[in-house]
Amino acid sequence: MSKPYDYENVLINIDKGIAWVSLNRPDKRNAMSPALNHDMVEVLSRLETDADVGVVVLGGEGKGWTAGMDLSLFFRDLDDKPVERAVAHRETNQWRWNHLYTFSKPTIAMVHGFCFGGGFTQLIACDFAIAAEDAVFGLSEVNWGIIPAGIVSKALMDCIPYRDALDLCLTGRTFDGKEADRMRLITRAVPADALRAETEKLARSLLKLNPEALRGTKQALKVSRGMSYDQAGDYLAAKFAEQKFRDVEGGYAKGISQFIDEKSYRPAFEAYSR
Ligand code: COA
Repeated sequence: MSKPYDYENVLINIDKGIAWVSLNRPDKRNAMSPALNHDMVEVLSRLETDADVGVVVLGGEGKGWTAGMDLSLFFRDLDDKPVERAVAHRETNQWRWNHLYTFSKPTIAMVHGFCFGGGFTQLIACDFAIAAEDAVFGLSEVNWGIIPAGIVSKALMDCIPYRDALDLCLTGRTFDGKEADRMRLITRAVPADALRAETEKLARSLLKLNPEALRGTKQALKVSRGMSYDQAGDYLAAKFAEQKFRDVEGGYAKGISQFIDEKSYRPAFEAYSR
C-alpha cells in the first residue's frame, strides 16, 4: 500500500482524479515557511507520479489562500543562517515555479480570501486561476521596504500588462478578483459561494481529455514562449513526436478513427471517447 499523504503544513485529498491540495497554516494565514515549502516539494513530486491524480487544485485552509512568504520564519529567522537560507530559497522556487510551471498534469489555483506577495508566484505558475470575486490581492512588498523578488517581478511582467504591473508593485495597493480578471492575472473571477463548484467543473472537464495531449500542450506553450521562431519550430516538431511516443492510450489514432471511420464525434466540439 502506498504511503499516505500526511504532511504538517499541507492537506491533500484525492477524489476521483482531482488532488485537492490545501496550504495548511491557517493561524498564520498560510504564510509560506521553509517547512511548508519543503512539504510542497515532496507533495508535488508524489502527485506528479500518482496514477490516481489527473488534475491538481491548489487551495488554502482558513480565511485566505496565502499571506505570501512567512516574514518571520522565511526572512528574519534565516537572516544569519546562510546554509538554511540557501536551502529555503531553492525549495521555495522549486515547487512554486520550476516544478509547477511545467508540471505534467493540469494545475488550478483556487483563490479565496486573499493572496499577497510571494503567493503570486504559484498563482501565475498554475495553468488556471479561479478566484472569488471578493478575494483581495496585493503586491505588498513595497509596504515593508523590499522589492517583489523571488521570481515575482519577472512572472508578473510576463503575465499582466506593463501599466498594471508597475501600478500594483509601486503602490502596493490591494485589488479584488474582478480587477484581477480584468487584467488577466487570473482565468476568471466567480462569486465566492461558487468557487469550489466552478473549480471542480473545470477540473472534471480536463479529466475527460487526453493527459499526454494536455501535458505536451502546456509545456509547448510555456517553454516555446522564450524561444525564437526557428528554435520554437524545431522544438515543437520534436515535442509533437515526443507526445505521440509517450501517449500509451494512442489518442491521435483513436481520435482520427472515431471521426473518420466511426463518425462518432466532431473534434472541433468535443473530446474523443477515451
Ligand atoms: N508572515 C508571517 N506571519 C504572518 C503573515 C506573513 N506574511 N501574514 C500573517 N501572519 C501572521 C500574523 O503575524 C498573525 O500571527 P499571530 O497570530 O501570531 O500574531 C497571524 O498570521 C494572523 O494575522 P492577522 O494579521 O492577525 O490576520 P488578518 O486576518 O487580520 O489579516 C493579512 C490577514 C494577510 C491581511 C495580514 O496578516 C497581512 O497583512 N499579512 C502580511 C501580508 C503580506 O504583506 N505578505 C507579503 C509577504 S511576501
